[in-house]
Amino acid sequence: MDNTTCVHINDKYFSLSDLEMDCWDRLVQGAKKSRSPFHTPCVATQLKEEVSMRTVVLRNAFPAEKSLHFHTDIRSMKWQELRVNPSISALFYDASERIQLRIKGTAELHHSNQITNEAWQKTTLSSRRCYLSPSSPSSFTDLPTSGLTEQIEQENFSIEASEVGLLNFGIVSIHVQSIDWLWLNHAGHRRAFFDYVQGENQWMIP
Ligand SMILES: Cc1cc2nc3c(=O)[nH]c(=O)nc-3n(C[C@H](O)[C@H](O)[C@H](O)COP(=O)(O)O)c2cc1C
Repeated sequence: MDNTTCVHINDKYFSLSDLEMDCWDRLVQGAKKSRSPFHTPCVATQLKEEVSMRTVVLRNAFPAEKSLHFHTDIRSMKWQELRVNPSISALFYDASERIQLRIKGTAELHHSNQITNEAWQKTTLSSRRCYLSPSSPSSFTDLPTSGLTEQIEQENFSIEASEVGLLNFGIVSIHVQSIDWLWLNHAGHRRAFFDYVQGENQWMIP
């Protein structure tokens, strides 16, 4: 292989296609491992002139389909925003490896379907509590509160009683259109762009 067309990281040479695979490996590991720096990306949406960002938990990464999943309450602002404008961006940064991924794509919203039903069965009781507040997320209140009733907050609240949360449980699937990869390096940064719309991968000036 011609090494001038590769990037040299930790004694390994990566071609553009090696790097693309590496991005997806990192995303798959990010979804699996709660301690991975790629476990909690920042996700941005836009409604009219207003941009909003928030941290979410990456739940799944599907390299073959080029998609990413996170869970959310269908009453949340982000869900309402994505219904109107499905454009979405997710930002990942691994500080120890100095690798940033900026992902852009379109969101598909899953609710009350096989995908949400299967994922719901795997959720823990504490995750389910996020979907059980009688008031919608982002509602203003007079007092600082989780929004959960005392009964739901109790330790002996049962998994059976939590089933009703499924009504509020949604999955956002990000169909990835591009990955902007950036590696910070003291001897010169490197950048690459994986474009799934045009179907081409290119190096970029950082
Ligand atoms: C570490 C961390 C993980 C989070 N994970 C999620 C998540 O997976 N889904 C979610 O809807 N909100 C998650 N949140 C809360 C969001 O960042 C945000 O505050 C909330 O969803 C309201 O966002 P919205 O008003 O834009 O809908 C997380 C927050 C933190 C700090």
